[in-house]
Parts: sequence; C-alpha cells; structure tokens
Amino acid sequence: MDGLPRERELPFGSNSVQHGTAVFEGIRMYAAPAGPALFRLDAHLQRLLDSAALLGIPHAYDLDALRRHVRDAAAGSGLDSAYVRPVLYTREARLGVNLQDFRFTLGTEIWALPADDTPPRPLRVTVSPWCRPSRSSFAVRAKATGTYVVSALARTRAAADGFDDAVQLDPDSGRVAESTIANVFLVRDGRLVTPWLEDSVLAGITRDTVLTLAGDLGIETSEAPVLPGDLLAADEVFLTGTASGLVPVAGLDTRTYPAVRPVTDALGRAYRRAVLGDGPHRPSWLTPVSRPTPSTSRL
Ligand SMILES: Cc1ncc(COP(=O)(O)O)c(C=O)c1O
Repeated sequence: MDGLPRERELPFGSNSVQHGTAVFEGIRMYAAPAGPALFRLDAHLQRLLDSAALLGIPHAYDLDALRRHVRDAAAGSGLDSAYVRPVLYTREARLGVNLQDFRFTLGTEIWALPADDTPPRPLRVTVSPWCRPSRSSFAVRAKATGTYVVSALARTRAAADGFDDAVQLDPDSGRVAESTIANVFLVRDGRLVTPWLEDSVLAGITRDTVLTLAGDLGIETSEAPVLPGDLLAADEVFLTGTASGLVPVAGLDTRTYPAVRPVTDALGRAYRRAVLGDGPHRPSWLTPVSRPTPSTSRL
C-alpha cells in the first residue's frame, strides 16, 4: 500500500530522484475548532491531477482516490496541525526521459506545523537575476519537483545578498511573475493587484483564496500585467502561499514600504479566520480529518 514507511524510502536510482520527475502539492491541515481539517483539499488535488496531465505522467488515481489517500495519511499522522505533501513519483530506477515508460505512484509526507497565531514577520525581498521558466520551455502551470531548482537558485542568491526572498520575472515579458515559493500581490490606492496568469506564474490556491476574500471585503481586485516599477510604486506588497499564508513585504531592494498596511492586515485576518472555518466559504474550503487513533497510524 502507498504511504507505508518502506514505500516512502525511494531507491537512489529512481527516475524521480535522478531527474526530478515528480509532481506534488503542499496542503495545510489546521486545528479548526470543529476538529482538524484540510484547507482547500480538492483545489490542491485537482491541481495535482492537472500537473500530472500537463507533464504526461501516467497514474491510476482520480480525485476520489487522491482524497481518500490524503485524508487517511493526515488522520494517521496523529497530528492536527501540519503541512501535508502528496507526491506523484516513480520508484523505477531506470534511465530515460519518456515519462510514459514509468509507473507513477502516490506518497504523502507530513510535517508537524504547530498553530501560530502571531502575524508573520515582514520580509525584505529583491528582484532576482534568475527569471521563472519561460512558457515556451516549461508547462508553467505544473507544480513539478524539478522546477524548484529554479526557485532554489533565486532564493540562495537572494539569501547570499542579505534578503529573505526574491521576486522573479517572466523571462519573455520582463514582468513580475511571483516569488520563489509564493505569489505576489500589490496594493495601490486601496486596490489589490496580482500578476495575471498570462505570465510565468503558478496559479496559487492561496492567491485564489485571497482574491475571493478581498471580494468579500469589498476590495477592488485585478489580475493584470505587473512591472517591477509597479511593485516599487506600491503602497503595500505581500506574498501568498499555502505554507506561510499571507506574508507582508517590508521592502523591495532599496524601497521600504510603510509599516502601516491596512489592506494586507485586513486580508491577513480574513485568511487566518477562513483557514479555521470561520466565514462564508466553510463548506467547500474545509475537509474534516477524523480524529487520529493509534490503530490508523501510517507514519
Ligand atoms: C512557485 C510558487 N508559486 C506560488 C505558490 C503558491 O501556491 P499555493 O498558494 O497554491 O501554495 C507556490 C507554493 O508552493 C510556489 O511554489
């Protein structure tokens, strides 16, 4: 069965290890008042299926099977607040790059992530010399293991230069795409803008959540082309991603943003409520995970 400890030990020669041929998701399990719940599980699992389809990865899972696997793994972890990572990978230790030649299977890694109510520390970011992959050289909507080397390049360089993270540009348009592991938003004159999906941007689930919450709050939103200069001229900038939620940006290169961030703070509060099931989207956004019992432990 997938998910058992021996299945999660990958042969060193596995094509997924050697070539980065795997697709994955990062999902948060939150300790909601009604019990542990996975936030926007189906949206993540649909993106996993889409990533596999974009890369031509053969597998035997449908949405129901993925949902069962991830819920079981989450319940069996014995945790109620965690980062849950299902990965479609191949154990086959053969050379070759035709993915149709390999059998892909699902495994789920889970890290404990204790609940933390403190708002995240604002980050100092830089515009990276390393761009996102071009749309003409990669299926940029796919969340694929191998492409994270691009994020690693940009983040490692940013850290060496004294920054917390980097904003990366679309190589073809020169416009802002996203940060190394998150989407980017800016606020100008009370309006919220995020780079459109025409550029090399992962369609983040948190991005979508924040656009929805902004609509609920009556904040005007747009998905639009964003130039580096637009970021510099913004009143507020923040990043969004499943792992860290909504994180304010303190400064971009030489630009320091005002320490008062009304839109970022309002959305941050709305997001922290939404992930705990407090708000109008609860029925579709939270998938309950049955309370763990020792007999269901699979980690
Ligand atoms: C490159 C990149 N962009 C954006 C995101 C944000 O996506 P999501 O909100 O679905 O976590 C991630 C998250 O891992 C990412 O790696």
